[in-house]
Amino acid sequence: MSDFPKHFVWGTATAAYQIEGAVQQDGRGASVWDLFTHTPGKIKDGSNGDRACDHYYRFPEDIRLMKELGVNAYRFSIAWPRIQPEGKGRVNPKGIAFYDRLLDGLLEQHIDPYATLFHWDLPQALEDQGGWMNRDTAYRFAEYAHLLADAFQDRIKSWITLNEPFVVLTLGYALGQHAPGKAYGLQAMPVAHHQMLGHGLAVQAIREISQSPIGITHSLAPAIPATDRDEDIQAATLMDEFHNGLFLDPLLRGQYPKSLVALMGEQAESFIRTEDLSVMSAPIDFLGVNYYAPDHVRANSKAPLGLEMVPMPDRPKTGFGWPIVPEGLTQLLLDLKERYAEKLPPIHITENGCSYPDLPDAAGKIDDSKRIEYLELHLEALLKALDKGVDVRGYFCWSLLDNFEWAEGYTQRFGLVHVDFETLKRTPKASYHWLQQFLRGR
Ligand code: FCB
Repeated sequence: MSDFPKHFVWGTATAAYQIEGAVQQDGRGASVWDLFTHTPGKIKDGSNGDRACDHYYRFPEDIRLMKELGVNAYRFSIAWPRIQPEGKGRVNPKGIAFYDRLLDGLLEQHIDPYATLFHWDLPQALEDQGGWMNRDTAYRFAEYAHLLADAFQDRIKSWITLNEPFVVLTLGYALGQHAPGKAYGLQAMPVAHHQMLGHGLAVQAIREISQSPIGITHSLAPAIPATDRDEDIQAATLMDEFHNGLFLDPLLRGQYPKSLVALMGEQAESFIRTEDLSVMSAPIDFLGVNYYAPDHVRANSKAPLGLEMVPMPDRPKTGFGWPIVPEGLTQLLLDLKERYAEKLPPIHITENGCSYPDLPDAAGKIDDSKRIEYLELHLEALLKALDKGVDVRGYFCWSLLDNFEWAEGYTQRFGLVHVDFETLKRTPKASYHWLQQFLRGR
């Protein structure tokens, strides 16, 4: 097996609400996650991101940790409600100033900033107008993107418009397990369309100002039928279209998968305008791929879409209970290359990682050997795809720090660095030292 290319990008990834804290400081407006976490019963441990890792104040230490780790890139997200507390119009200069400090700190250390513009913390003021169910949010997103491009220009080395619109659609608006907590079922489909329209409009807005590459990050997963029965195979095909095709086909082919248009029926006409598809498919410079595990699918006529996800019993699991399937990453990347051929832009793995509950031992060391194994296996799987000609340019480990894991609160630790949420002390885990050695060896 060959090695990673010389100019491969190595990074870690985080998201604003999961690490920043300081939710009331310096004029930040409320986001949907502030309301959701403060609604009893929504978060497993009753926690919230009010303080999180306190990265808003401790970011210089976090940059030092990245520098010592040896990465050359950092994927973080910009909190829209810090920039536009009401989600439109007025700009909060203190919000801009925070990301100015962060960008300058990263650039000083030769760490390339990859900024995600929307990692789920929609300004609550926009949610009050319907959020992503409302077409207007797409235009507000483009306005926000434009002013960020104006403020940061080429200091942001790569732009990522959205993070995982599939998860916002499903957990946020269809099932109600994430903010804004809406359980609209299939009636939530406009959320997919409006996010991708917002993406397309944002690409146009950023290109007017910044020369830096622009991409989008999707959560993608190969769909594996639970058995070789026809109905399970068909269920897996539909799941693949719903999870992957719903977002990648409009983006890379300028059309929706036929099965989904049929599924949406007349509702589709109420929110999809033909001209939207050319906006949504504006050329991008890279595709961000987040990979954690495949979808393991079984037909179930009583479930929504006629299918359900079932465990992979013969697989080891992460602390979250997610099956460990490294070859799913190889398969996913090969499928992308085959399906989209020359339309597929270069890829960055913008998230991959695992949670384990490892805590410091008596000597203060954190032996997360399972994470090391997970990362090794996934990097090998990635190399296999590279060997077969998939153009992957970078890998970002989720995550730099243990952080606020959405509906799971602080119960899932994904960090290379342990965070004590009482004292906020950061302690690099064994996996951090392992990755450091790996990067030094290159
Ligand atoms: C992804 C999210 C990220 C993190 C990881 C574990 O879906 O983008 O914020 O929660 O999962």
